Amino acid sequence: MKQEKSIHLDLGKNSYDIHIAQGEIDRLGERLETLAFKGQVAVVTNPKIDRLYGERVNKGLRKSGYRPIVIQIPAGERYKTLKQIGRIYDRLIEHRFERKDLLIALGGGVIGDMTGFAAATFLRGVPFVQCPTTVVAQVDASIGGKTGVDHPKGKNLIGAFHQPRFVSSDPAVLTTLQKREYRSGLAEVVKYGVISDERFFSYLEENSRDIRALDLDKVSKCIERSSEIKAQIVASDERESGLRKILNYGHTIGHAVETLTGYRNINHGEGVAMGMIAASRLAVELGLLRAQDVTRQVALLEAFGLPTRLPDLDPADILNVMAGDKKVMGGEIYFILPKKIGSVEVMKVDKKVLRRFLKALPKYV
Ligand SMILES: NC(=O)c1ccc[n+]([C@@H]2O[C@H](COP(=O)([O-])OP(=O)(O)OC[C@H]3O[C@@H](n4cnc5c(N)ncnc54)[C@H](O)[C@@H]3O)[C@@H](O)[C@H]2O)c1
Ligand SMILES: [Zn+2]
Repeated sequence: MKQEKSIHLDLGKNSYDIHIAQGEIDRLGERLETLAFKGQVAVVTNPKIDRLYGERVNKGLRKSGYRPIVIQIPAGERYKTLKQIGRIYDRLIEHRFERKDLLIALGGGVIGDMTGFAAATFLRGVPFVQCPTTVVAQVDASIGGKTGVDHPKGKNLIGAFHQPRFVSSDPAVLTTLQKREYRSGLAEVVKYGVISDERFFSYLEENSRDIRALDLDKVSKCIERSSEIKAQIVASDERESGLRKILNYGHTIGHAVETLTGYRNINHGEGVAMGMIAASRLAVELGLLRAQDVTRQVALLEAFGLPTRLPDLDPADILNVMAGDKKVMGGEIYFILPKKIGSVEVMKVDKKVLRRFLKALPKYV
């Protein structure tokens, strides 16, 4: 076992630990034993992840005396639906799951959000554990208790807050991710540097080549620091009434780009990378940020193989999608804008200013 790191997320009676280490995936049974857990266990996953890691998870659980059942959901965001949640309930009922029994989410953010939602609602709430297997899931989706599914009218429209009993992140499982999937997750890692830790941002700059090449010790460090920052932010604002909003840095324009391109050519992390740069250029325009702090972000994102320029889209369309977004309050568009690397602020931006800015955006080099 490589060096292990545990981060405590303090949420009063909902507190839990985030364990990060190579080999964590084999230790879920041990972790449950430590909590003196005695009920039934269901591992929720998809066929691909099950093929890659199901056996190891199963073995670890059995070693500690658990007899897990496996519930498979087809892979992909398009199966993040209430219909699939219904199938999870069916299996739990079939196996006579009770309030004390537990679900394990083994997979990326899609599996994590769905398993969490099933756990939040089955029998009005059963315990669950996050075993995230993508960068996005390890540094973001598994931490903080936001669970849910999509609706044909929009992403994540149905959901609940439900905190896991613990999070078990194994950076070594990231080696089987598709390269593009891995790189796009790094956009969220960069985000943490910009919103709250300039030293971490410098670390990413200095080690960008090794991180991109999946040097596991350095990747572990990235997962640790990112998880720590997310945990701190969630601890101070569990229900997203204030500070937690800064996690949306890069997401306002990013989401609009994802939506307008039909989620096809641009994936989430790529949208976030473009969105962070657009937001930063806006911050420069508004006199909040120095131009060189945009250059640094562009260089780092490019070193990670991420795009930093928006595709050719009509500014009016971008504005319309942003105006219909959940992050809009009182008809005004709120942005997370950096003041420097390591610090952001939430600011209302006038739609006219935005339109002018978006029109001029393609001229930036
Ligand atoms: N709850 C939150 O706070 C939160 C935060 C961010 C994102 N999310 C949600 O997370 C979802 C995106 O998550 P994601 O980016 O992890 O995508 P994902 O869950 O769709 O996983 C991406 C792909 O990678 C595969 N995969 C997963 N782990 C693997 C591994 N170790 N090796 C090989 N392949 C693997 C999956 O089968 C899938 O095909 C979205 O639905 C988003 O809404 C939630
Ligand atoms: Zn994101």
